[in-house]
Amino acid sequence: MKVLVIGKGGREHALCWKLAQSRGVSALFCAPVNPGIKQVAEPVAIDPCDVAALADFAAANQIDLTVVGPEQPLALGIVDGFESRGLSIFGPSKEAAQLESSKSFAKAVMREAGVPTADFEVFDDADAACHYVRASELPLVVKADGLALGKGVAVCDTGETALAAIDHIMRRGAFGAAGRRVVIEQRLEGEELSFFALCDGVRALPMGSAQDHKAVFDGDRGPNTGGMGAYSPAPIEPAFEARVMREVIEPTLAAMAARGMPFRGVLYAGLMINGGRLDVLEFNARFGDPECEALMMRFDGDLALALKAAVEGRLVNEMLPLSPAAAVSVVLASRGYPASYRSGFPIRGLDDAERMNGVRVFHAGTSLKDGVLMTDGGRVLIVSALADDLPSAISRAYGAASVITFEGMHLRRDIGFRALRRVSGDALEAAQKP
Ligand code: AMP
Ligand code: GLY
Repeated sequence: MKVLVIGKGGREHALCWKLAQSRGVSALFCAPVNPGIKQVAEPVAIDPCDVAALADFAAANQIDLTVVGPEQPLALGIVDGFESRGLSIFGPSKEAAQLESSKSFAKAVMREAGVPTADFEVFDDADAACHYVRASELPLVVKADGLALGKGVAVCDTGETALAAIDHIMRRGAFGAAGRRVVIEQRLEGEELSFFALCDGVRALPMGSAQDHKAVFDGDRGPNTGGMGAYSPAPIEPAFEARVMREVIEPTLAAMAARGMPFRGVLYAGLMINGGRLDVLEFNARFGDPECEALMMRFDGDLALALKAAVEGRLVNEMLPLSPAAAVSVVLASRGYPASYRSGFPIRGLDDAERMNGVRVFHAGTSLKDGVLMTDGGRVLIVSALADDLPSAISRAYGAASVITFEGMHLRRDIGFRALRRVSGDALEAAQKP
């Protein structure tokens, strides 16, 4: 099987690394690549959003399966573009990808499917949205309807912040067309976790849980980023996984099929748990980044076969074996990210880190200059480790991170801390000692 991966971040490096181990894969391409991906896949210099050029490449090279990493090409309709040319591609259609690309669409599907989620209203008019805020109980959450790189959500404790968010999103157009409509919903309290299911349009298989760390600084302080680290599994019981499948994933899949928009791909549910309560905060129509890196560390199956089966509507239970071990992914970022940062600094110590037991380093924003690996982005490397339990995985990941250096390197020191606190109050400190 010849496989093409689309996207060039840490998520796509992890997918390529796993796909390269699939027995049926005879050739692996990635469009485009970073230096890490280039070690396992042949580079294709095409932009992930250039659907026509990607489909031309897939047709000319007889690609048997294309795997889409990021959300933008899905929202643009890359899957429809490929399928109209008879090309096999893993991911949801443009209509089905609206579960991520339109929050009002996702909320409507949840309401229809009886999936638990915060009460909400949808507004296309800023004045009406402001009127609603003035008449509502706080706290509220104001969300731009469309894709906004994770920045379109404002959790508002006061009426002023909610009104300011509406102004920013709708009147000032901070996110362009993505902010012409807003969803305003009740604020939920609790613990967040991410749940992944592989879907073939009809059936879904659980693909594991993870907890992401979105804020840039320790203790969840500072602005939200694309993700500063993740660990998998999240501290949940098998019975809870069955509940998420039954109350969230399966009804959503059924509602999408009933709408004539069967969902094929990874359904990523962002959940809020509070005591016995379970609510969906959002859906994504793809793997998370860096959650994917942690999940791939644990994945013991044949990824190409599983994704191909999802495309062809023939998923069966045993296709997604996950190691019971714990995986931790720590992002090494450029200081200043998610705002402005500098790039072009040499990276040292990577080989030493990769020689460590159970450790794998995925590349995100890196490039090669005269044979030297340099920083080239906000999130630079994702240091990932697998071990029998979470404290050991944290210890391994931070041990490996400690031998990597570049100017302005920033990382969170507390990835996995919430789960660890449950294990033992002192465990986090102990686990971080090299
Ligand atoms: P979303 O992109 O909708 O997941 O929102 C991004 C982040 O905003 C989530 O990960 C939560 O931390 C927060 N958030 C979103 N919706 C709510 C809500 N209804 N209540 C509390 N926090 C929320
Ligand atoms: N890490 C969050 C996301 O990929 O959406």
